[in-house]
Amino acid sequence: MTALSPVLRQATPVTVDHGEGCYLYGTDGRRYLDFTAGIGVTSTGHCHPRVVEAAREQIGSLIHGQYTTVMHQPLLRLTERLADVLPEHLDSVFFANSGSEAVEAALRLSRQATGRPNVIVFHGGFHGRTVATASMTTSGTRFSAGFSPLMSGVHVAPFPTAYRYGWSEEAATDFALRELDYILTTLTAPQETAAFIVEPVLGEGGYIPGNTRFFQGLRERADRHGILLVMDEIQTGFGRTGKFFGHQHFDVRPDIITIAKGLASGFPLSGIAAPSELMAKAWPGSQGGTYGGNAVACAAAVATIDVIESEGLVDNAATRGEQLLAGVRAGATKQIGDVRGLGLLVGSEFTTATGEPDSATAAAAQQAAARHGLLLLTCGAYSNVVRMIPPLIVSSDQIDEALAIWARVLDEL
Ligand SMILES: Cc1ncc(COP(=O)(O)O)c(C=O)c1O
Repeated sequence: MTALSPVLRQATPVTVDHGEGCYLYGTDGRRYLDFTAGIGVTSTGHCHPRVVEAAREQIGSLIHGQYTTVMHQPLLRLTERLADVLPEHLDSVFFANSGSEAVEAALRLSRQATGRPNVIVFHGGFHGRTVATASMTTSGTRFSAGFSPLMSGVHVAPFPTAYRYGWSEEAATDFALRELDYILTTLTAPQETAAFIVEPVLGEGGYIPGNTRFFQGLRERADRHGILLVMDEIQTGFGRTGKFFGHQHFDVRPDIITIAKGLASGFPLSGIAAPSELMAKAWPGSQGGTYGGNAVACAAAVATIDVIESEGLVDNAATRGEQLLAGVRAGATKQIGDVRGLGLLVGSEFTTATGEPDSATAAAAQQAAARHGLLLLTCGAYSNVVRMIPPLIVSSDQIDEALAIWARVLDEL
């Protein structure tokens, strides 16, 4: 008899029978409002009919057309379709399977293109679970403990996490940029620094949006020193924040973006996008993989982009995001020290009476929400932030339904 390894930890007790739209249906016969969206993946909702249809049709003609052996049409179609949604200068794409692989692809491209060994990441960032990406992840030691030595060549600079420092956004941004300069003077010389790798909104790190002056400060330093600016859009891309890509809130031009999650409505597909002159500096044949750019996943991704556009999901994420953030803020009790977010990424940070992180109450709230039929996740260094990430198709009534359950949960705590 085999059993699932205890290495996997499950956030809720639910075993899913099937999903439809914003709901998951458990084998217990209950319906759950899913404000986890498979960790920000099922943006078009569970089993959107157009995505299902595209995948079904593709399965009947080609499942796996290994992309370093042959080329296939869904991959070519997706490459072409992405031109409609990517920033114009990011005109070359490479595909893999998971977010971690995409971040590794960006890392390799950055090192190969610049010939420089080091990268700077930003404190609280999450970039994945492979050894290279765990080495770049600083949102909690739980992602990197126990399998050292990690990859070398990674330096960590502050992110403007104003709430944590207890400072204004201005002061936190001044500090972050000043420390970045100090790191470039004391730890990794600019001519040895290949890239800054940063999330537009810290995801796993606690749903903390960056700001325009911070990202423009990174851009200015990147230009001055020939360093690449890599924006990890794995959680923030494809409409999640109320713009197609998270960095578009901050008037900043990235050199490389990573994409995954919302790209293919649940099929494992990821990628990077960069200007073709930059992509041409990658060593041919240095990236690839057996399953990258899977035909069914690519067909689902094309359908996903069609749905996002034709159903106005980016605008819906912006409007429903405002509704959700305002509702969560209005209902926050004294156990919640901060509520923040961007679009349909909304986090409530639980703190004790003395302002310390309160992971126990956050966990209790998340579990109680599941019992009341609302699926949520936690995040943050101390797992004391309860996050809401509904599908982008979420309706105003479903936001109200979630807010009503959340109010009940907070009342019962
Ligand atoms: C910003 C960011 N980067 C990278 C990853 C890693 O993606 P994956 O879990 O698909 O490897 C994640 C996953 O949550 C993420 O949110």
